[in-house]
Amino acid sequence: MNEIIKTDKIDHIGIVVPNIEKALEHYKNVFNKIGSKPIISETQNVKISFIQFSNIKLELIEPISEKSPISNFLKKNPLGGMHHIGLEVDDLNNTYSDAKNNDLEPLSKPVKGYHGRDLFFLHPKKMMNTLFEILSKN
Ligand code: CO
Repeated sequence: MNEIIKTDKIDHIGIVVPNIEKALEHYKNVFNKIGSKPIISETQNVKISFIQFSNIKLELIEPISEKSPISNFLKKNPLGGMHHIGLEVDDLNNTYSDAKNNDLEPLSKPVKGYHGRDLFFLHPKKMMNTLFEILSKN
């Protein structure tokens, strides 16, 4: 069987937090892991930091404006919570077409992420209420 989305790598798990500095402090206390210095994505209206584990990284996300789609998530989940799973693919544009043609309802066309890699999200209603981010390898 031909898969619709050809991937073998979970790149990261996205976790929404109400305050990224406090979250980083907490992760340091609990796991002794130092996250990357938070960067601001003006286009997505979020602050982001990565915490690297040997097999995967966690992406901490704090919305910095009401305009961010993440701010709704935080309203519903004031403590924050798991938000999405980031899957890496070799050919993002083809994967996008395949996702669209197979009714996975990408939420947008591929956009450039803050890290320079192209990405899009699948509609969670098509994935049993889990949000998947599909991102290019480089
Ligand atoms: Co992500």
